[in-house]
Amino acid sequence: MEIRLNSMVQSTGLKKVKCSVFISGTGSNLKSLIHFSKKKNSPISIELIISDNANAKGLKFGKIFKISNKVFNFKNRLIAEKKIISEIKKKKIKLICLAGFMKILSKSFIKNFKGKILNIHPSLLPKYKGLYTHKRAILNREKYSGCTVHFVSSRLDSGKIILQKKIRISKFDTTKSLARKILIQEHKLYPEAIRKVISL
Ligand code: GAR
Repeated sequence: MEIRLNSMVQSTGLKKVKCSVFISGTGSNLKSLIHFSKKKNSPISIELIISDNANAKGLKFGKIFKISNKVFNFKNRLIAEKKIISEIKKKKIKLICLAGFMKILSKSFIKNFKGKILNIHPSLLPKYKGLYTHKRAILNREKYSGCTVHFVSSRLDSGKIILQKKIRISKFDTTKSLARKILIQEHKLYPEAIRKVISL
């Protein structure tokens, strides 16, 4: 997969890897990925935004930049995923970036796009998989936390790590201040990780 992405960018010179970004909420990572995609030398174009939440604030960024979006109800995950697969195929999406997408994708969906789904997680994986990462890190008096971009595998937050950024937790940090500090790093790390995957 990685080699195919790379050859697409190199052979055409111009052709960018078509991406879809999945979000559930604020979408600050989506916003940073859109800005990244608009850079002249960016290897990606964002063609589709997917959300499980019609009220996700991040959907507005897609609207501002006229990127099409689709919202799917995950009450029936199988149906939602079927529709997503059809949209992704229609738009010839080659890379899926989960960016604050809070639903767990099925094993068969992940298998369908093996090596093509990336996720950003707000901890230094393998530490603190799952939810409430900042709170747990502070309660455990960790000196460091950070963020990780990894390939998505069928085990939650366990796929191969692409890049990580470590930050120091100060004794004054609260869950909120730590989340804010880590988000700033996430916005830099995700584009770097995408470049790395595409140039592998
Ligand atoms: C980010 O911190 C992201 O790492 C985290 O949700 C936040 C979304 O922020 N993702 C997860 O916890 C996934 N397990 P955003 O909507 O502003 O990008």
